[in-house]
Amino acid sequence: MHALLRRAARALTLLCFVAAAPAHAHETLKLDAPKPNVAPTPPMGWNSWNKFACNVSDQLIRQQADAMAASGMKDAGYQYLVIDDCWQKNRDADGNIQADPQRFPSGIKALADYVHAKGLKFGLYSDAGSLTCEGRPGSAGHEFQDARQYAKWGVDYLKYDWCHTGTRNAEAAYTIMAKALRASGRDIVLSICEWGTDHPERWGPAVGHLWRTTHDIYDGWESTKDRGNGMTNILDMQAARGGVSAPNAWNDPDMLEVGNGGMTTTEYESHFSLWAMLAAPLIAGNDLTKMDADTLRILTNKDVIAVDQDPLGQQGRRALKEGDLEVWVRALAGGEHAVVLFNRGKTPADMKVAWEQLQLPADQKADVKDLWSKKVTKGVRGSYGGKVASHGVIMVRIKAAQ
Ligand code: GLA
Repeated sequence: MHALLRRAARALTLLCFVAAAPAHAHETLKLDAPKPNVAPTPPMGWNSWNKFACNVSDQLIRQQADAMAASGMKDAGYQYLVIDDCWQKNRDADGNIQADPQRFPSGIKALADYVHAKGLKFGLYSDAGSLTCEGRPGSAGHEFQDARQYAKWGVDYLKYDWCHTGTRNAEAAYTIMAKALRASGRDIVLSICEWGTDHPERWGPAVGHLWRTTHDIYDGWESTKDRGNGMTNILDMQAARGGVSAPNAWNDPDMLEVGNGGMTTTEYESHFSLWAMLAAPLIAGNDLTKMDADTLRILTNKDVIAVDQDPLGQQGRRALKEGDLEVWVRALAGGEHAVVLFNRGKTPADMKVAWEQLQLPADQKADVKDLWSKKVTKGVRGSYGGKVASHGVIMVRIKAAQ
């Protein structure tokens, strides 16, 4: 009798386990609260990592906030000031995350208030693992506690990294943080930084607002023996990714290097133009307090930014590649097009876009605006082009005339 009962109990336990496992897994990945509508166009802002790495402080962020507001960057649309890795120090006895008291003596709340008072928004960085990439405490197991803390501090944007995650499943790990943020009482952009390793384009749109597609960019034209992803290498990794980008769900080819000194002015113009064609988040990564005229001119080119921020939200594509010469096209709202003629070669090249590459009839008259020289040419038929500098672009906006 006893043996029978034991066997029945064991069978019941097994049944419960088998029945419960899929329900539990489903529950973990289910996001009931809607994703806040905080990135209908690609986020624009500044992040500390590319220029300052771990050297972040209260003073640095205040100076960058002042410069963003005073330089014309804010007027051009840049909003978020995001502190990347190394602002954290440890957790207190209750598990609450603590900012480094030496670097942030007034605390994060006071800093966020300062940024908000400038009419800007404030972002922080954490990691889905036990530690961040620089070995500070990560958020694994503390997601809800951290999200509540961010909301209390006034955080508007979270970049969430993927170091020290062991065997964690990426979709599940990012979903837990998405749940926590959505339950926090504050609308917070979730920037997924999982380097494109586990197909974030499949699950990212439901979970976050943007997702990195590659490992880190570095401030150079192309990869070298010691450095992985130069600007053009990152660009090549985006060529086939256009289909998924949409409002509140952006491919993120990593932050901008404009103004950091590793590329020429012409190359930085190309970098900025191409990121706009990719509908990339425009997160400046330079020192905003020390911008030369070219850096500011590039980062605040309103016509190029308007392409990036186009409300249709459709990522551009590489329509032609012939050796070093590439034609990139992007459909814009209202039937307009943006085109980049990109010359990766060592000498200047004559290049053009043909109307058929834009699905326009060859005899269609169009008005063409060069977005760097600002020259407007009216009534153009069939194609448009010119001489493109080595490593440079011609970027235009094409509008069919009535
Ligand atoms: C990773 C990310 C970078 C940066 C660093 C910080 O490498 O991809 O963008 O956040 O971590 O440690």
